[in-house]
Amino acid sequence: MALRIGDTAPNFTIATTAGEINFHDWAKGKWVFFFSHPADYTPVCTTEMGRTAQLAPEFEARNCAPLGLSTDTVEEHLGWTKDVNATQNTSLKFPIIADVDRKIAELYDMIHPSESSTATVRSIFIIDPEHKIRLTMTYPMAVGRNFDEILRVIDALQIGDKHGIATPVEWQAGDKVIIPPTVSNADASQKFPQGFDEILPYLRYVDVSK
Ligand code: BEZ
Repeated sequence: MALRIGDTAPNFTIATTAGEINFHDWAKGKWVFFFSHPADYTPVCTTEMGRTAQLAPEFEARNCAPLGLSTDTVEEHLGWTKDVNATQNTSLKFPIIADVDRKIAELYDMIHPSESSTATVRSIFIIDPEHKIRLTMTYPMAVGRNFDEILRVIDALQIGDKHGIATPVEWQAGDKVIIPPTVSNADASQKFPQGFDEILPYLRYVDVSK
């Protein structure tokens, strides 16, 4: 069965470009951006890997570790990384899983047979420090992902956890957030002494940067 939001991300031990990792040990205390790509030495994947590497300081600032995966070997990943670094002007440091026998890809439902019976689609799992899956996204092979959105959802999840709020459409870090309907006005006044804007009884905004 497909993994869902709120499920514990299944553990595994596997070879990566940074040596063998036990996923839960490696991910201890961190957020994880776990993503698959179809294949090494392919153009869209080259740009995505490069972007992930370029954004290392942004992931670090969010205590979030990228972890890539495809069904290629460690040797292929390492050889391809040289191309990624050279063409995308970066230095890729995060581990890439070599899921040669497709064990992890099957565990995480990353192989969609109508696309390919052997290569992974572009799956994303954002996993929190308790190993809970907090977000899933799946892109087809021919569409590169938007990394502004990936950082934005990590920000939204983290600010949601910190303040018990939700984020509105097109929310960007620094924008006002939404007080969930489960919080009464009386409780909201206590929780947010800076005050809040009530547009409708169920549509209330608060600035948590104050
Ligand atoms: C790519 O990364 O360019 C790619 C990989 C598999 C299918 C289509 C595109």
